[in-house]
Amino acid sequence: MSRTIIVSNRLPTKVQRTDDSLTFQPSEGGLATGLGSIYREDDNVWVGWPGLFVETTEEEEYIAEQLRADSMAPVFLTEAEIRDFYEGFSNSTLWPTFHYFAQYATYEQEHWEAYVAVNEKFCQAVLELAGPDDTIWVHDYQLLLLPEMLRQQRPECTIGFFLHIPFPSHELIRVLPWRAELLRGMLGADLIGFHTFGYMRHFLSAVSQILGIPSLNGQVETPTRTVLVDAFPMGIDYKRYEQTASSETAQQHEQDYREALREARVILSIDRLDYTKGIAQRLRAFELLLQRYPEWREQVSLVMLVVPSRDQVPQYAALKEEIDELVGRINAQYRTISWNPIHYFYRSFPLEELVALYRLAEVALVTPMRDGMNLVAKEFIASKVDQRGVLILSERAGAARELSDAIIINPTDAGQLAEAMHDALVMPEEEQTQRMTAMQALVRQYDVFAWTKLFMDRLAYSKIKQLTMATE
Ligand code: F6P
Repeated sequence: MSRTIIVSNRLPTKVQRTDDSLTFQPSEGGLATGLGSIYREDDNVWVGWPGLFVETTEEEEYIAEQLRADSMAPVFLTEAEIRDFYEGFSNSTLWPTFHYFAQYATYEQEHWEAYVAVNEKFCQAVLELAGPDDTIWVHDYQLLLLPEMLRQQRPECTIGFFLHIPFPSHELIRVLPWRAELLRGMLGADLIGFHTFGYMRHFLSAVSQILGIPSLNGQVETPTRTVLVDAFPMGIDYKRYEQTASSETAQQHEQDYREALREARVILSIDRLDYTKGIAQRLRAFELLLQRYPEWREQVSLVMLVVPSRDQVPQYAALKEEIDELVGRINAQYRTISWNPIHYFYRSFPLEELVALYRLAEVALVTPMRDGMNLVAKEFIASKVDQRGVLILSERAGAARELSDAIIINPTDAGQLAEAMHDALVMPEEEQTQRMTAMQALVRQYDVFAWTKLFMDRLAYSKIKQLTMATE
């Protein structure tokens, strides 16, 4: 029987070291939920990094054994690989380039070599498990070379690839010294998926401009194979958020927060620490709101959660300092004895508390400079069980292609963002309900399970198509 192998840089389980012991916790990400129904079935397996540097072989064996019991196979990274592959090429070269922050990108040959070596390491780990008829689904920018590496070794396998971040204009891609290798790496797949048609178009144009390979209707004709390319906007586990939002625990948390905030109205902002998320710009826009509309002082608070991430990369450490400084300055200028303009948390929250904040917030600010999709926008919508609340959404988040009933803004325009916050705070309840109901219908229908099924069905179809063409 053939099996499905999921491959991503991180496993759906986080292994953490606390004092002398190791803990195993499910990763919060939506991907783990969406694919949970696949990798735990039959003989399927998920291959990835358990998220920590492991010092001894005994520890490696112990972790591998624990993960094996839950259908996972770990790829261990050395300290040098974490520095050069993860923090280096993945997050200091590809991440800024693909998010249009080319000024932050570094181009280090050593980082590139580590990227090739780690993709090979993942390839070996998959080859140990994969038979010729298996289906392999590779995820994201850390593993762009893997589809072609696998294709070389297992020509008959069905290989899918999904990119979770934006694919930028080919003008950005062409700056990369290793652009051709990266594109060829992706083309090893049978099906390549993106969140939006815009990203897909950029990819096809990069393939044509840089590799000289034409495409027609989302089919790339390489000299040896046809590769299908399509858009699959990712969703969330809608029911999980809806049910959690209706739970007594979430309602109790909401009540507690409401009392602690003395009934101030809440604008909510939740992100991983990242310069792509527009956190500093959002703080400046909130300051502008307080300047332009003094009537909101002591009436509205910004609750801002920033989840620590990649803090060994210099730009992330600098951003953390900038946020600390901005929050301190704005709070010092506007706070009163009984009111804080910004409640800032630098840590992650458990699901019930997160959902309680979604319930509490009248407005959610999802205003990234660039974002592949942004699932926070969808989580906010699913948690609004009373159909009230307003989403302010950046036109440069993939989610804006679907959620046209949000207030769509340009995140670099602080004035527009301040006005959008004001408009959201005065929006009549009837209009809020109309917009929220429309967005809920869409997010409920295209949830993460529908996304997985759509991709897997299309991947199976792409293989049938290849086989039919081969026999014609
Ligand atoms: O958005 C891309 C992504 O890789 C997500 O899949 C992941 O949740 C997030 O970035 C954080 O990535 P990491 O902590 O693995 O660097």
